[in-house]
Amino acid sequence: MKTDEIREKYLDFYVSKGHARRASDVLVPHGDPSVLFTPAGMNQFKDHFLGKVKLDFTRATTCQKCLRTGDIENVGRTAFHHTFFEMLGNFSFGDYFKREAIAWAWEFLTDKKWMGIDPQRLTVSVFHDDDEAAEIWKQDIGLPESRIARLGEDDNFWPAGAPTQGPDGVCGPCSEIFYKDDKGVEVEIWNLVFTQFNRVGEPPDNLRPLPSKNIDTGMGLERIACVMQGHSTNFHIDSLRPIVDAAAEVVGRSYDAASEDGRRLRRIADHVRAATFAIHENVVPDSKKQGYVIRRLLRRAVLDGHQMGMRAPFLHQLVDIVVAQMKQPYPELLQTATRVAEDIQVEERAFLNTLDAGMARIESIFSEMDSSRRQVVSGDEAADLYTTYGVPPELFQQLAADRSLTFDWEGYRKAMAVHGTTSGGGTIQLFKSGALEAIKAAVKRTEFVGYETETFEATIKGMVVYEQQGEAKVEKSAEKITDSSQEVGIVLDRSPFYGESGGQVGDTGVIETATGRFIVTDTKKDAELLVHFGHLEQGTLEAGQTAQAQVDTQRRQGLRRAHSATHLLHHALQKYLGDQAQQRGSKVEADRLRFDFKQRDAIEPETLESIEAEVRRLVGQGD
Ligand code: SER
Repeated sequence: MKTDEIREKYLDFYVSKGHARRASDVLVPHGDPSVLFTPAGMNQFKDHFLGKVKLDFTRATTCQKCLRTGDIENVGRTAFHHTFFEMLGNFSFGDYFKREAIAWAWEFLTDKKWMGIDPQRLTVSVFHDDDEAAEIWKQDIGLPESRIARLGEDDNFWPAGAPTQGPDGVCGPCSEIFYKDDKGVEVEIWNLVFTQFNRVGEPPDNLRPLPSKNIDTGMGLERIACVMQGHSTNFHIDSLRPIVDAAAEVVGRSYDAASEDGRRLRRIADHVRAATFAIHENVVPDSKKQGYVIRRLLRRAVLDGHQMGMRAPFLHQLVDIVVAQMKQPYPELLQTATRVAEDIQVEERAFLNTLDAGMARIESIFSEMDSSRRQVVSGDEAADLYTTYGVPPELFQQLAADRSLTFDWEGYRKAMAVHGTTSGGGTIQLFKSGALEAIKAAVKRTEFVGYETETFEATIKGMVVYEQQGEAKVEKSAEKITDSSQEVGIVLDRSPFYGESGGQVGDTGVIETATGRFIVTDTKKDAELLVHFGHLEQGTLEAGQTAQAQVDTQRRQGLRRAHSATHLLHHALQKYLGDQAQQRGSKVEADRLRFDFKQRDAIEPETLESIEAEVRRLVGQGD
């Protein structure tokens, strides 16, 4: 089924359920200073959810042009990430709620009249205490418990993590639908958000009920098209593959999906499509806000071309194919195609003029870093590369990360301030940037070796120091640590330290090198990295040094004991209180544990005694 057909079917389906079909909002929203680009279908309806506008309709459906920069480094590398994409959505403003939202999503996906997907391939998740949604999936749809995951606010709240981390504004628990392909690869295709709160300020008590309960759903058009067309990546669907192929032709390479060039060609296709839509709406590549995002996308794509041998502008030639692929839903692109191509060509030419010299400078920095065993690109170097050679810092960071080198963002910002120049989005953070982000890009993951051993020889791959500046805690890259009063985070290539996650606290212990000794007071998992927090006890530490990492064994044993005890307690609770005594959360520490579960009535003292006795009996069995 073609992408254009899926889009129409979706909108028709929701019109048949009484929804008003509305046009996509613009990509660059007017009058919403909280975002640079429209990130989701709900953006044009924020005031509807807040009850601030008179409603002409209480149900709406759209296909929205969106642009997000949060996953930009994944574009081209992973199967399902984009910057520009289209989001299919249906919305209820105080009209229907969870029951209909779930039933209709299921009908659209599985009914032969619509998508006709095999229901066995679909699983769902709900917010951990959203019994109502779980019950609807179970009772109304007939999904077994095993296909309904219950997850926390990072996965099943929208915006992700909103209650704790923000942003303020409309939000709510959500339920996601996942599709599993023949190879067992699972992808989230649809997010059903039960928009019922307005977040105001920090927790606790920061979720205010909205005047009405609402629905906001979002399904990535490219993802559902990928499912329907049986491809392994969105970039091979009917609307995107021709752009990838055209990019290959323009740069004179054949497209091999698994190769580095394949990744580059997909990235070029994505970035030129995003730029075409943004420039169509009069964004001009420059050093601020939307213009900076588009500059950075175009320069990344030019760099990709440069690395495949291109020395003359080429991206602008791809505007025609983008317009050809997207003109059915967005015929207005035809009117601006010439101007868009011209603007892209100007930007390409400007960057290509300095790129050879810029790359030579970067290479010489890398070779100097290699011989002096320096690990962190300095802020001054990065500022020079941008101001003299036009190489955006995010690109430089990526080139450094490809060589496992990290990047001093704080130093870059300082250096730019000295130049009297700034770049970026003003108060809106455009791209993930920070010392830990730079280490993450360079190191990617810390291998956890703590199941096999509690002492391990590893290499220090990156260090971060934290400084209090007024209210804010500032994170800085560090090549060397000499000050024992500083709070420090250390990343190793491999580590026996367990990082806090899923309610179990992180390990503590010692990291020691030939020159210094560091006390680890906590270890946390950050994406795939383990970060060891603590302070220097004596001497100095340097990035690149070999280090002996030693976990506090006694404390670890206490943690292990407490962790096993949660399993025993869970078992005993279910035995005496029944299946509904499901674990909702827990905190495991060396000498205590906390276990959360939901129970309507108080537990009788005799039952409590039986539960305790059962846990003791099980502990005794283990002796
Ligand atoms: N706003 C939600 C999302 O972007 C659903 O549309 O995922």
